[in-house]
Amino acid sequence: MSKKKTNEDRELHRKLLKLWNRGQSEYCEVRGSDIHGHGVYATRFIPEETRIIEYVGELIDKKESDKRGNALHAQSLKTGGAAVYIFTVNRNYDLDGNVPWNTARLINHSCAPNCEAWIEGKRIYIHALRDIQPGEELTFDYGFDIESFEDHPCRCGTDGCVGYIVSREQWPELKERLKSKSDVTTP
Ligand SMILES: C[S@@+](CC[C@H](N)C(=O)[O-])C[C@H]1O[C@@H](n2cnc3c(N)ncnc32)[C@H](O)[C@@H]1O
Ligand SMILES: [Zn+2]
Repeated sequence: MSKKKTNEDRELHRKLLKLWNRGQSEYCEVRGSDIHGHGVYATRFIPEETRIIEYVGELIDKKESDKRGNALHAQSLKTGGAAVYIFTVNRNYDLDGNVPWNTARLINHSCAPNCEAWIEGKRIYIHALRDIQPGEELTFDYGFDIESFEDHPCRCGTDGCVGYIVSREQWPELKERLKSKSDVTTP
């Protein structure tokens, strides 16, 4: 192997390591989750407002984002499910977090979340909404639209769980819809 090639390899390795490290955090780690599949858990006490971990991925324009979103939708119709990792960054860009070094992509949704995603420029960070104890699962509100809510049952297990992964702003409408459904089915 030539000396030039070795230097290029070293540089590539350095860049990949930097990219990988951006998706890791000393505050959390991946474990099996009671909510669903894998989840992300606090490894230490995390004070309120701490920036816990970056949600890393590929910055894509809206056209590419729509293309990937449609492909995921088609896949979900065929297989009955497909995880969505695309976050809105601003009017022009989204971030596709479906990369293996993005630990934060495994954070599950909760109706009483302890974290929130904050957009800072073109970057996304997960922050603590309150003090979090070691061993607690990290969660945030996925903010899904009410449309097709029945495809997204929620198993967060919190006392106030509304039963579906739907953004908090749409809870009143969800409760109305669930009520009229039960009025129809209850004799
Ligand atoms: C971005 S992934 C989160 C990581 C996921 N637990 C895994 O192991 O791949 C999102 C998917 O996790 C599941 N999920 C997340 N939060 C959930 C919740 N509160 N209730 C039920 N399923 C949930 C849903 O299938 C959702 O499409
Ligand atoms: Zn819930």
